[in-house]
Amino acid sequence: MMISPAKSICCIGAGYVGGPTMAVIADRCPDIEVTVVDLNEDRITAWNDPDLTKLPIYEPGLDAVIARARGRNLFFSTSVSEAISSADMVFISVNTPTKKKGIGAGQASDLRWVEACARQVVECAKGHTVVIEKSTLPVRTAAAIKAILDIPQRQPNSGEPSPTFSVLSNPEFLAEGTAIRDLEQPDRVLIGGEDKDAVEALAAIYSNWVPTNKILRTKLWSSELSKLTANAFLAQRISSINSVAALCEATGADVREVALAIGTDRRIGSEFLHAGPGFGGSCFKKDILNLVYLCHHFNLPEVANYWNQVVALNAWQQNRIADLVVQTLFGTVTGKRLAILGFAFKADTNDTRESPAIRIAHDLLEEGAQLAIHDPKVAPEQISVDLQKKPCHPLSDLKGEGTWHFSTTIEDAVQGVDAVLILTEWEQYRNLNWLKLASLMRAPAWVFDTRSVVTPTEIADAGLRVWRLGEGSE
Ligand code: NAD
Ligand code: UDX
Repeated sequence: MMISPAKSICCIGAGYVGGPTMAVIADRCPDIEVTVVDLNEDRITAWNDPDLTKLPIYEPGLDAVIARARGRNLFFSTSVSEAISSADMVFISVNTPTKKKGIGAGQASDLRWVEACARQVVECAKGHTVVIEKSTLPVRTAAAIKAILDIPQRQPNSGEPSPTFSVLSNPEFLAEGTAIRDLEQPDRVLIGGEDKDAVEALAAIYSNWVPTNKILRTKLWSSELSKLTANAFLAQRISSINSVAALCEATGADVREVALAIGTDRRIGSEFLHAGPGFGGSCFKKDILNLVYLCHHFNLPEVANYWNQVVALNAWQQNRIADLVVQTLFGTVTGKRLAILGFAFKADTNDTRESPAIRIAHDLLEEGAQLAIHDPKVAPEQISVDLQKKPCHPLSDLKGEGTWHFSTTIEDAVQGVDAVLILTEWEQYRNLNWLKLASLMRAPAWVFDTRSVVTPTEIADAGLRVWRLGEGSE
């Protein structure tokens, strides 16, 4: 079937992917009407916030893109059926978390939201509609979506023509914190599909701003599998460098020097070699577990075990930080006050999903610590949900064991603490006045830097002790 250029796009799911991705498409393609829909009314209200200060996600540069396109050809709405009916392309960009129960629990993706979308599309679509998998999905999910879309919907004599569909895979490779840059200047755009006209119609949208040689066309299954594989490779590098960090601590080497030395080899490359408290975020763990599940499903246990080890090493890395802090602080943190700088899973996002800070803070609370937590973008309500504990407020109420307070300033957070733990690499933690902060802390005080953001000599000059992840002592 000849497919004409898209005039109207609907995206189901106004989350970390759907919102920014559609904002950039609308910005770059003013002739296409883009409607992002979601069942979550609060989220849609936040996307429509008139002064752009309450957008549901924090992403550098996002507000400017929204300001240009929203109300012109970009719309956020809860009218899902209406938006599907008037669209010639529907992106599915809903959540695909790990299944919590039943077959594949703890590994396989829970596809109930994707399936619900496919059912709604088949019910509401008119004419020919290109359905695009934007969510990260297990390989061969398109077959399930096609099976749903093939269910006849209209009565044979209703006079209404039955809708027809093409299914494409177009996974998203953006990273949070750099989403707008990643979308505006992607390394590649991947389109998988068998219907050549549909593939070209989608490629035509991206070609408004992406160089032709960066738009890759593959089989459906290759596209679906490439997304899981890309995340697995990236996460594998982090587990590899974190394993080396532990070895550095044990031997007196420095992981930053090792990373520099190996990263200058062009075959290895220097990106994604930062040792840290373990990878977080909504994707890596979920996607690797999904890959592990698929390998078992296809009777490849050795391959499954290989990838599972990337996740196992990461869990070990996240777990060892709290232990190490307790051991260093004379074996106990009960009733001691500690500052946590950074709660987001990485800098430049307000997202805390799978953040290593959750595990570390949780373990320290279990040990009886009093935590003063600071993060420039994460809301205290979110931390409360993550720690399953209400905060103490004001700071003078931070007493007893296993309690926490949300500090709006770094000075507030370090009042009377025995240690500062830096868990997210926010820019503002890089150039702190340690001399001033040291005077607010209780000696002997420690700085635990899990993100390599401090200059050790400045800490030492301020009379503080420092532990840096991946740095062994002489
Ligand atoms: P998210 O949880 O932020 O957003 C998903 C949204 O979909 C939610 O707002 C939810 O209310 C909505 N939704 C669910 N079912 C719906 C339905 N039937 N109708 C309307 N709305 C519905 O998730 P996200 O982080 O944007 O991720 C979406 C997908 O993209 C996932 O598959 C994820 O793996 C993938 N992905 C995420 C990232 C990332 O950095 N977050 C990057 C690349 C790919
Ligand atoms: C990741 C992929 O990078 C992206 O392509 C995909 O679309 C979604 O998943 P994201 O999770 O948003 O993106 O951020 P990313 O920059 O990959 O960081 C993930 C985690 O790894 C963070 O906790 C980060 O701090 C950590 N990390 C990253 C390291 O510990 N060291 C590094 O060198 C890089």
